[in-house]
Amino acid sequence: MKNILITGGSGFIGSNFIEYILKITNDVKIINFDNLTYAGNPENLKNIENDARYKFIKGDICDEELVSKIFSENNIDSVINFAAETHVDRSIHDPNIFIKTNVLGTGVLLSNAKRTWGDNFSDKRFLQVSTDEVYGTLPEDDKSIKFTENTPLQPHSPYSASKTGADCVVQSYFDTYKFPTLITRCSNNYGPYQFPEKLIPLIINNALNDKDLPIYGDGKQIRDWLFVEDHCDAIWTVLNKGKIGEVYNVGGDNEIMNIDIVKHILDHLKKPHSLITYVKDRLGHDRRYAIDAAKIKNELEWTPKYKFEDKIKDTIDWYLSNSEWINNVISGEYQNWIDKNYK
Ligand code: NAD
Ligand code: DAU
Repeated sequence: MKNILITGGSGFIGSNFIEYILKITNDVKIINFDNLTYAGNPENLKNIENDARYKFIKGDICDEELVSKIFSENNIDSVINFAAETHVDRSIHDPNIFIKTNVLGTGVLLSNAKRTWGDNFSDKRFLQVSTDEVYGTLPEDDKSIKFTENTPLQPHSPYSASKTGADCVVQSYFDTYKFPTLITRCSNNYGPYQFPEKLIPLIINNALNDKDLPIYGDGKQIRDWLFVEDHCDAIWTVLNKGKIGEVYNVGGDNEIMNIDIVKHILDHLKKPHSLITYVKDRLGHDRRYAIDAAKIKNELEWTPKYKFEDKIKDTIDWYLSNSEWINNVISGEYQNWIDKNYK
């Protein structure tokens, strides 16, 4: 039985990951350490919260004392660091919390893992969940160019700069101490439990309520979309089969323009395209992301299972059947509930 410390496990990808892992293996104990910011929601884990293999600890990855206590009291074999501030628009308005959580928080986790594991870390792992945004942007007119693991890091937003900073600190632990680090860099995810500030759930929710759909700039920016369970499976594959000190890109070879996704959602919901409203562009907006996932496919035999056409329909239907979840997160009801139950 391996004890895995999952940070940020109550957010979008972390909660999907915990549910997925507890479904596919019996051989793990999960400790979910999450500060329950606006993006973290215990409701995302209601299906497994009473599972004997699951334990929740509320707290901040920047809190040295608490992180140290967690390491001393729980025989941690692996850390998977999902915890982060994740929304690019928020980072443009308020960068400092991004630098604090994403860079300092990662540093606190690393130093405590290293201190606890001592020199005996050959069977331990520290996996940093990173993003394709660290590479910056790609030309739109040459689709043969994609991000590889060797593409230079050239982030543009405070969010992606903070994730790049974190990646550099993680990599430095391998370069300096041969500490058993792994880094995954994934493209845009979609699926259940994504906070409705991000494009896909925001568009679904606004369309359902006949509200304007804000499209930044000309809407022709390109993202490379992957169903969240495929990302979870890639992380699990890298944790178990990845070579320490390595970076693995994760993506589904699925480049789509924002405006086309929005039209697709409107058509599925039978809502008019007149809801589309072009608004001022995001500052420093990256035009195109595209992942070359050859390394993880060839070396670790990971491949995405799901097709965008199928899973976007399931995702829209999930939000349709879970309108109460959306209303609750938007209204802040969960935040009140968290304040009452965890303080
Ligand atoms: P999210 O915003 O939905 O969830 C983040 C979680 O981290 C929340 O549960 C939040 O409460 C927690 N958290 C934030 N600050 C914390 C702190 N100081 N201490 C403890 N917990 C804290 O994010 P997500 O979309 O699930 O992303 C998870 C990870 O995956 C992030 O590291 C992100 O950079 C990365 N990533 C996301 C995507 C994507 O498309 N969403 C793609 C590639 C990589
Ligand atoms: O690429 C991986 C990244 O994907 C992750 O690292 C981030 O955590 C995650 O938030 C996501 O970042 P993006 O900025 O790509 O996602 P977002 O959903 O915010 O925006 C997707 C695209 O849609 C982007 O080009 C901006 C545009 N957009 C977004 C919103 C919220 C709009 O046009 N209108 C909107 O209202």
